[in-house]
Amino acid sequence: MWGGRFAEGPSAIMREINASIPFDKALWRQDIAASCAHVRMLAACGIVSDADAAAILHGLEQIAGEYEANGVPENWDLEDIHMTTESRLAELIGPAAGRLHTARSRNDQVATDFRLWVRDAIDQADAGLKALQGALLAQAGTHAASIMPGFTHLQTAQPVTLGHHLMAYYEMIRRDRSRFADARRRLNVSPLGSAALAGTGFPIDRQMTAAALGFDAPMRNSLDGVSDRDFALDYLQAAAQCSLHLSRLAEEFVIWASQPFGFVRMADSLSTGSSIMPQKKNPDAAELVRGHAGRIVGCLTSLMVTMKGLPLAYSKDMQDDKPPVFEAANLLGLSIAAMTGMVEGSTFRTERMRQAAELGYATATDLADWLVRQANIPFREAHHITGAAVKLAESRGLALVELPLADLQAIDARIDERVFAALSVEASVAARASYGGTAPDQVRARVAEALAELEGG
Ligand code: ARG
Repeated sequence: MWGGRFAEGPSAIMREINASIPFDKALWRQDIAASCAHVRMLAACGIVSDADAAAILHGLEQIAGEYEANGVPENWDLEDIHMTTESRLAELIGPAAGRLHTARSRNDQVATDFRLWVRDAIDQADAGLKALQGALLAQAGTHAASIMPGFTHLQTAQPVTLGHHLMAYYEMIRRDRSRFADARRRLNVSPLGSAALAGTGFPIDRQMTAAALGFDAPMRNSLDGVSDRDFALDYLQAAAQCSLHLSRLAEEFVIWASQPFGFVRMADSLSTGSSIMPQKKNPDAAELVRGHAGRIVGCLTSLMVTMKGLPLAYSKDMQDDKPPVFEAANLLGLSIAAMTGMVEGSTFRTERMRQAAELGYATATDLADWLVRQANIPFREAHHITGAAVKLAESRGLALVELPLADLQAIDARIDERVFAALSVEASVAARASYGGTAPDQVRARVAEALAELEGG
């Protein structure tokens, strides 16, 4: 394709280090779509004849069928997907194939193909995340009033509802979707027609190819067109942040599924056994989601470091942009699907969760709040009195609500029998009815809003 000025061919190592076809063959659909748009424009602008354009379009259609049926052939001499397709086109239709590359360079070609690919990856991530949100909402609605311990420092803090806990993840995924949507908006401009770096002398119509490929507009600067990879970094940034959220949810499942917690029975279909310990049911899928997040962050780091300090316009370093994006997209898709299945397929052991909330003195704050409200005691003093009550209950192996009134009154005489109504875990969550709080009515209201939101998009 470029041998004119060379006296000898590339060495074996040159061929090998240069070949991107092993991974960029994933761009074949986008490459053919962009070539079709380009050649239609060339014909419309009178740059190639209608007959040549028709032959090229016909040939490209045939190649798409071949790739679909047999995969993309990997010949290192042809370097990449662009040359692979063009050389097959030449075999099929002869010299007219050479007209396809008029007013185009592989630099704007690959930038266009890759943008189209990332745009599809964003749409796939969004669809997967929407399904995960649906699964979270379904469980949150079922468990709007199921009580569990809420934690800080992974120590029992205050009772919350499982629905409230799951809705926290709904909110994280909501932000992830908005980050992907934001990345998509910025991505959706066309580099095609930037040519090698400076634009082209042919009278092309960049608006036409942009519109044909679903872009909002052509990019305004040809140097930027061929050298910008912000769209891939934006995607990886959104993917990395999303994977952090998924890894936190995964980690909660790992903890909840452990025997000492026993909060959840995970679906057999997303668990594995042990080859030596027959009793085991391991949360491997959750652990892998936790692990994949590290790899996805690595993909982001990889591309950032590739792009750092690159002079304008195209440099071959940029061929290395694709593997981290492809890898992140694969890992993210698996992670989203695994977490959706985990949320849908898990059985929550609500009685154990409730007991754990009771055992951990989760309503101690409610006792302190009661002392403030009913006995007009300053909060710091109430905190101290409550600490003494917890100490006593702990020494007797009782829950706060099980302490005899006489013992509570021995700690502070201002306590009376009305206190017991405030010390149950049910009363505790019901009391937290501030907007966004864990009270079951609040959770139900947020779930209803979220359901309407999800239906709208
Ligand atoms: N395979 C190359 C890539 O992915 C295509 C662009 C090649 N451009 C060039 N000037 N050699 O980046």
